[in-house]
Amino acid sequence: MSSTTVITNIATLVTNDPSLGDGSPLGLVRDAAVVVDGDRVVWTGGSSKAPATDNRFDAGGRAVLPGFVDSHSHLLFAGDRTAEFNARMSGRPYSAGGIRTTVAATRAASDAELEANLTRYLAEALRQGTTTFETKSGYGLTVEDEARALRIAAAHTDEVTYLGAHVVAPELADDPAAYVDLVTGEMLDACAPHARWIDVFCEKGAFDGDQARAVLTAGRARGLTPRVHANQLSFGPGVRLAVELDAASADHCTHLTDADVDALAQGNTVATLLPGAEFSTRAAWPDARRLLDAGATVALSTDCNPGSSFTSSVPFCVALAVRDMGMTPDEAVWSATAGGAAALRRTDVGRIAPGARADLVLLDAPSHVHLAYRPGVPLVEAVWRAGVRVV
Ligand code: NIG
Ligand code: FE
Repeated sequence: MSSTTVITNIATLVTNDPSLGDGSPLGLVRDAAVVVDGDRVVWTGGSSKAPATDNRFDAGGRAVLPGFVDSHSHLLFAGDRTAEFNARMSGRPYSAGGIRTTVAATRAASDAELEANLTRYLAEALRQGTTTFETKSGYGLTVEDEARALRIAAAHTDEVTYLGAHVVAPELADDPAAYVDLVTGEMLDACAPHARWIDVFCEKGAFDGDQARAVLTAGRARGLTPRVHANQLSFGPGVRLAVELDAASADHCTHLTDADVDALAQGNTVATLLPGAEFSTRAAWPDARRLLDAGATVALSTDCNPGSSFTSSVPFCVALAVRDMGMTPDEAVWSATAGGAAALRRTDVGRIAPGARADLVLLDAPSHVHLAYRPGVPLVEAVWRAGVRVV
């Protein structure tokens, strides 16, 4: 039999369920309590009305919100690109080609090294409140190296993405068509059993619209659902292709035409913004305000990878989105929790409501707004994942 715990004396509870709280999208409840039974939330409401439970935890007048859902990361890699970052901060532009540096280091690493690296960054993310994460292959670019990355990832998360189409493998640089054949053929056969999603970097220097379409439709035929690296470094066909193929998410969305914004507003595809990438490549920010005002669903994620965004911190991304991308603190917190869940087509995470998985973050602050108000401060005081206190 599972035991029940009440977390009580919560100054501000973010439920992400408007019907449970003040009617706002965050469904805020003041002076709140949450009851957890085993791995699930079974009750939320005012502290004074909480039912009797086996255990009791006093939140001490601080804020509780759903664990962050980081729907975009690249954690299967080895090596480091400090020199490239340094050069960039001295004025050199970022390009898709830097990926090849990490490919060489990743191929040379053992399975144990790759897994140790993955678990290190997962632990780092968990300490900062991330309880659900997606991660991708894309630094192997051979049949064996892509499949092993996904196999290792699948031991740690259900949200695994096959990104064989990250860049053309260096040994096929002169024959991109042959590489697309490999990605949609033998490599897909080896990778599909370990993955839920298929992704492609649709960008100059990576894959064009026709190649991206070939990759995504081949993956879909094997039961993988598309998500797309779209419109990161330049305008292009990625976002519209994502919406047309009903991809779960179009990621980056940094360079958007009005037609791209309209497509995202009308389709089911979530616009996932990754401000760590603009921060670390010193690029112009994606315009979250424009997407929100048009009616698009927006998610916020880290894009954690050694090249363009080496941060595992969702709170950092929330602060950037509020300061520089036109989001309100409420919108940014929604996008980093419920928005991430939408980008992964999950309804069991990203909210604190009866039936949801008990993934909770306690902040050492009276409200979720402090995530943006106190940037860079380690506010995450405790984390529960599936009802177990892990931080
Ligand atoms: O999401 N855009 C493509 N992939 C990564 C960058 C990968 C790298 O530079 O190693 C991204 O930014
Ligand atoms: Fe990425």
